[in-house]
Amino acid sequence: MQAIIDMLDPAMEAEKAVRLASLSRDDRIFHVVLAQQFDTQSIEELCQLSEMIRGIASHRQGNLFLQTLLSDRRAMLYFIQPSTRTFMSFTAASQILGMGYNSVRDPSTSSETKGETEDDTIRVLSQYFDVIIMRHPVEGFAEHVADILNGIPRTIPVVNGGSGKDQHPTQALLDIYTLFQCFTEGKTDTPLTEYSGNPFAGKTVGFVGDLKRGRTVRSLTYLLCRYPGVRLMFMSPPELQIGPDILEYVQRNGIEYEMCDELAPHIGELDAIYVTRLQDEHDVNGESKAIDYYKFALTHEMADRFKPDLAILHPLPRRHELDQRLDVLPQAKYWGQVRNGMWMRSALIAYIFRVDGAIRDHHRNYYAF
Ligand code: CP
Repeated sequence: MQAIIDMLDPAMEAEKAVRLASLSRDDRIFHVVLAQQFDTQSIEELCQLSEMIRGIASHRQGNLFLQTLLSDRRAMLYFIQPSTRTFMSFTAASQILGMGYNSVRDPSTSSETKGETEDDTIRVLSQYFDVIIMRHPVEGFAEHVADILNGIPRTIPVVNGGSGKDQHPTQALLDIYTLFQCFTEGKTDTPLTEYSGNPFAGKTVGFVGDLKRGRTVRSLTYLLCRYPGVRLMFMSPPELQIGPDILEYVQRNGIEYEMCDELAPHIGELDAIYVTRLQDEHDVNGESKAIDYYKFALTHEMADRFKPDLAILHPLPRRHELDQRLDVLPQAKYWGQVRNGMWMRSALIAYIFRVDGAIRDHHRNYYAF
């Protein structure tokens, strides 16, 4: 946690340090709300742990071991915004760790229709469950929930599964885990379960599409800023460029970056490309209909300019901005990225409930040679 605090703007250091401390317990992340909570050590630990769980879960005995870890815990998935991947991968992660779960997806079935406030709903859910995993349309609501939970006797953790246009920290973690896999595969003899280092030095990571309203891009950028030597390219229509708050963060962390309003001329420079869809659900008056988004589509015709080791990522769901004909190429990493969500979310839950040590011990005893 100290490493994060040290990188803060001095003028706001005290306020931000208090904010980050309120999300931690005993110098460990407790509430998972912001991507900025994660430093290189916690990212590395979670990537190692994800890789261990992936290996352990490939054996029946390993699965049975994992299912003992949280069989006395219950999760509430409070998802009142649509989701396929985040919701399903958290349910799968709960099952991997033997944790029971229940969900609220449609608030019209809750007593909020009788006038109960959402804050009270959260307080009620905290009495039945041991963690609240939530997706919510309002920016900052997960942090507000952390404040509510810190103020009641039975404080349980909250995990942000996507909040408004601002943050999607667990997506960023699974994205960086996928990039770790892509950038270390065949480059080091050290397995990812033990890997410690900066695989991003000298790499160019391009973000393309609706960067202004894409919370996955914002959260992943925060994480990539932990890695000196990475170069970021933000390629989007001018109306949808990345926000000034993110650029300020990138600059403050000394990360090289470029902004451009074209994709095609830059294809050959990229070691990874993170393609995103138009977030037109956030339009106020259908304004994005006037934008030529197809200029920012990654197409099969561009493939002859891809670097051989290019990693193509997309948080999904996709539309036409990611050509389906690319799916068969070795550079297409987005299906593995989807599956990595299940491993990373298992790792994160294990970390929050402090059973990560048991997983490390089990891996050392049975899987490390
Ligand atoms: N990537 C992602 O958050 O997908 P869902 O909206 O389906 O959860």
